[in-house]
Amino acid sequence: MKVGIITYGGIIVTLETPDKNGTIDDITLGFDSLDGYLQDHPYFGAIVGRYGNRIAKARFTLDGKEYSLAVNNGPNALHGGLQGFDKKVWKAETITQDGIPALKLYYLSKDGEEGYPGNLKTTVIYSLNNENELKIEYFAETDKATPLNLTNHAYFNLAGHRQLQSIANHVLTLHADRFTPVDESLIPTGELRNVKGTPMDFTEPKKIGERIDADDEQIRFGGGYDHNFVLNKKGASLTLGGRVHEPTSGRVLEFFTTQPGVQFYTGNFLDGTLKGKGGKVYEHRFGFCLETQHFPDSPNQPNFPTTILKPDETYHHSTVYKFFTEKE
Ligand code: GLA
Repeated sequence: MKVGIITYGGIIVTLETPDKNGTIDDITLGFDSLDGYLQDHPYFGAIVGRYGNRIAKARFTLDGKEYSLAVNNGPNALHGGLQGFDKKVWKAETITQDGIPALKLYYLSKDGEEGYPGNLKTTVIYSLNNENELKIEYFAETDKATPLNLTNHAYFNLAGHRQLQSIANHVLTLHADRFTPVDESLIPTGELRNVKGTPMDFTEPKKIGERIDADDEQIRFGGGYDHNFVLNKKGASLTLGGRVHEPTSGRVLEFFTTQPGVQFYTGNFLDGTLKGKGGKVYEHRFGFCLETQHFPDSPNQPNFPTTILKPDETYHHSTVYKFFTEKE
């Protein structure tokens, strides 16, 4: 297995894994050169910050002070603003962690950048071990309290680039009994709703395409799946969040995370206008994302786990994407 990462946006540009016959292919969406990433694109492979996902009305109050952010998604703020962490050049260093090759990326987000308070020192470490586990570790420190929600926005298609097709036949399991329902602008209502009896129920393996166009309000608001799932877990240990299996290639992805949630997004905004690697056209739902994260709009949601990082704390989260194959 091989991973390619660039300093611009800390973007995962290639992810090569074997299928059940040992044939290697790239299973992540993106472009062949930097130029592709410099144009408008939907966060392919990028590190997302300072706040991954949405903040309602692009506003929040912290310690009695109101902050306003760029409105860049309907009435809301999305993915850290106009020049989020996905558009920054990160300082890179290759390191070894317990004998495993790793890439250490560093970015200093200055006080007031994109409207967020505090100088935030951010480190992201990507590593790849011999068990085909891609680990992403996030660290941060700030000198003023700030909302923080870091994630990676890789789009996977386990069929691989040569056989690229809709992700409808991928089979998903999510260890999530609840999700955070949203309004029409994709802001959580605050409720943690049971998935039972809804198209959001992936507690048993289900084809992604089976209920993706169901007559369901949540599906309509998302244009498919674009929802945060509440992972079944206690505390912040690194636990299995779910798995995706693509039957023709036999490829399996399992993800583990210390985060309480995951945004499952099915590439509903891909519409065939972007040409990616090897000139492949990225059609509707040709990739899926599993963005491990805290819940959307947490700074305005008193009942969600807090996303405020304080000056005396160190932010530390990890996510592992593990790859293997299965014959059946
Ligand atoms: C996230 C959001 C989606 C969309 C994509 C990028 O997954 O939740 O609504 O913005 O990023 O297109």
